[in-house]
Amino acid sequence: MPISKGIRVIVKRFLRVWRKENSSRHIVDRGEFLQSDSQPLSSWIKSQIESEKYWFHAIELPGGMVTPGWSNPRTDKLPFFGLPDEMHGLRVLDIGHAEGFFSFEAERRGAAEVVAIETYPPMIRKFNICRAALGSSAQSFRASVYDLNPKTFGTFDLVFFFGVLYHLRHPLLALERIHSVCTGTLLMQTATSEDSSEVPKAEFHPFGIQSGPADKPSYDPTCFWFPNVACCAAMLAHTGFQQIVRLSPEAAVGAVFSAKAGVQSPGAPPDEYKAPWS
Ligand SMILES: C[S@@+](CC[C@H](N)C(=O)[O-])C[C@H]1O[C@@H](n2cnc3c(N)ncnc32)[C@H](O)[C@@H]1O
Repeated sequence: MPISKGIRVIVKRFLRVWRKENSSRHIVDRGEFLQSDSQPLSSWIKSQIESEKYWFHAIELPGGMVTPGWSNPRTDKLPFFGLPDEMHGLRVLDIGHAEGFFSFEAERRGAAEVVAIETYPPMIRKFNICRAALGSSAQSFRASVYDLNPKTFGTFDLVFFFGVLYHLRHPLLALERIHSVCTGTLLMQTATSEDSSEVPKAEFHPFGIQSGPADKPSYDPTCFWFPNVACCAAMLAHTGFQQIVRLSPEAAVGAVFSAKAGVQSPGAPPDEYKAPWS
């Protein structure tokens, strides 16, 4: 075959593949993954959901599906956790994302980029099932709050730290790591002790507590620290956060705080040339 004809054939093949790939990407980008043509895909998502034994978050998915979580964050948490209605342009970090309700909610509210981290692999698997169903661009990484640093993760305009502090053996270290990547606002929720004094105090449970749904409690060996409200605010101040405000004090959701980073600047992704990938 003459060389020019050979090149034409290669270019045609390339264009065929490129068009095919880009038309499917278009479907995903518009979040029409399940509604488009995809009976097989929606049955695949359904089978993936059913194959998971345990769900924490109930998450609404396209096609009327809802993950069978025992906690409904849309009604039980979202109204009290201080998420801004408008998140356009924000780089958001969701720490301890579980199945990802808050990551997907941030994306729904317009966040430019959502980075989510988790230590428990089944949660990452379930996050990715929901991500596929929603056609989401939020990214989950298997990493601990202790791994956070600006070199690897960049910096964030808005950080969610919901329901994780009391699971940690080193809460102050975690807040230090969060402060290193937060250049905007931190929203933090934690279970607290019942002590209502203004003296910072924390309750320590070296071997965990009873936890889980009220009608089906189970033992959770990872619930260690229950600070009182004064202690939460003191820990935030100690690690450099400012303008610490308690949100929704009337709600029975532990304690929720909004706090600002000492130095405010726009969140930015990691510098690929300085990131420690190798
Ligand atoms: C109670 S759930 C909270 C989930 C979600 N943020 C919410 O508020 O609904 C706590 C999550 O934090 C995760 N987790 C525990 N230790 C962690 C750590 N060191 N770093 C990141 N995530 C952690 C757990 O695996 C679990 O999924």
